Amino acid sequence: MAHILIVGGHDETFRMIEDLPVELSVFQNSESVTAQQARRAHRLCVFDYRNHAEALSMARELHEVEPVDAVVSFTEHGLMPAAVIKEALGIKGNAREAVRLTRDKIAMREHLAGRDLGAVRTRSCHSASEVRSFLQSVGGPIIVKPAEGAGSSGVLRVSSLDQVESAFACSRGEYPGPTLVEEFIDGPEYSVESFTMDGRHDIIAVTAKTTTGPPRYIETGHLMPAVLAVSALAELRGLVTDFLSSIGHSFGPAHTEVRIGSAGPRIIEGNTRPGGDFIWELVHRAMGRDLVRESICHLAGLPPQSRTLGLGAGCVAFFGYENVVIERVQGIEAARQAEGIIRLQCSLEPGQHLGPLRSSADRQGVIVAVGTDLVDAERRLADAQARIRVETSPLPH
Ligand SMILES: Nc1ncnc2c1ncn2[C@@H]1O[C@H](COP(=O)(O)OP(=O)(O)O)[C@@H](O)[C@H]1O
Ligand SMILES: [Mg+2]
Repeated sequence: MAHILIVGGHDETFRMIEDLPVELSVFQNSESVTAQQARRAHRLCVFDYRNHAEALSMARELHEVEPVDAVVSFTEHGLMPAAVIKEALGIKGNAREAVRLTRDKIAMREHLAGRDLGAVRTRSCHSASEVRSFLQSVGGPIIVKPAEGAGSSGVLRVSSLDQVESAFACSRGEYPGPTLVEEFIDGPEYSVESFTMDGRHDIIAVTAKTTTGPPRYIETGHLMPAVLAVSALAELRGLVTDFLSSIGHSFGPAHTEVRIGSAGPRIIEGNTRPGGDFIWELVHRAMGRDLVRESICHLAGLPPQSRTLGLGAGCVAFFGYENVVIERVQGIEAARQAEGIIRLQCSLEPGQHLGPLRSSADRQGVIVAVGTDLVDAERRLADAQARIRVETSPLPH
């Protein structure tokens, strides 16, 4: 039986591989560990695995006791420790350079700068005055964002000089270190889910994204598969395939975000893991692909899993109330029972005072629907939403 080390992950990750004949060791942080993980794992080491040095020394000890065949992570903060372990122990897993180039957005832009993969003007800034001069040189709106951000935290669109100071401070406040500024690529947003084996990229789905819009662009929903002209779809698939090859991604799922601007598709960010925001669930239930299971089977040398038949399409919608007091919430259970609803989470409660949405973490829940096609999935989502009544009043000053 192959011995696989998984760094981080949620219960869903472990549920997907519950019955696979592999010996599992798990590194988990104390906030995320659960009884289910303890049951599934042969060994469970609870510590802050984001400390790469500690993760590596734990892995070395584990490797001595019971040689590890492969290491993998499906979660943002586990990717780099897993890649460090893979490289040091010389075992199977995700390429460290591909992880570095996607975890660090400045490194990604520097990498793309010399390649023919759709130019985006960018700069790494250490001061507000550097941001100001970049804004002037672009002559149009820019995006200010932390190099290692997620969930739109610290992301702001800036279109005039007087916005620079506060945007820079906000981005800096979220994550220390240099701030990335980019020309604003105006156009619809998509994400591309893929699975790579031996350097070959299989594009599984293109998903359309909706956001709160300027200034923060917090994700409010996803539609899979996106409705796109055949030529635009081919261009997108081509760009993402070239991008994944260029960063040296040779194994596993990837989630690449793009905007189609006036000069064509442009990479916004890449991740060598399945898409978050329940996009992974759409990939599973609508496209019939369980990428966690496929990854583990591949790493463990198990025969490829027969794929299930996905329903065809799906959509995700988040609860994103802001600047209100929640007075009453009704119909959540009825909505959960509606046809095609595979997930409904809602933390809204009477009496809550909700301030502005500052990142994805401030959203109050999600509805995930699947259907035979996008029209069907969206209709089912709308049916569920129609069953929910949320009454609000203005936030007192
Ligand atoms: N250069 C850009 N042009 C246009 N929009 C951008 C750009 N960079 C980021 N955005 C917007 O901000 C959102 C969040 O940025 P992103 O780089 O994806 O950070 P995060 O890791 O927080 O998701 C994107 O989904 C997009 O809407
Ligand atoms: Mg993003």
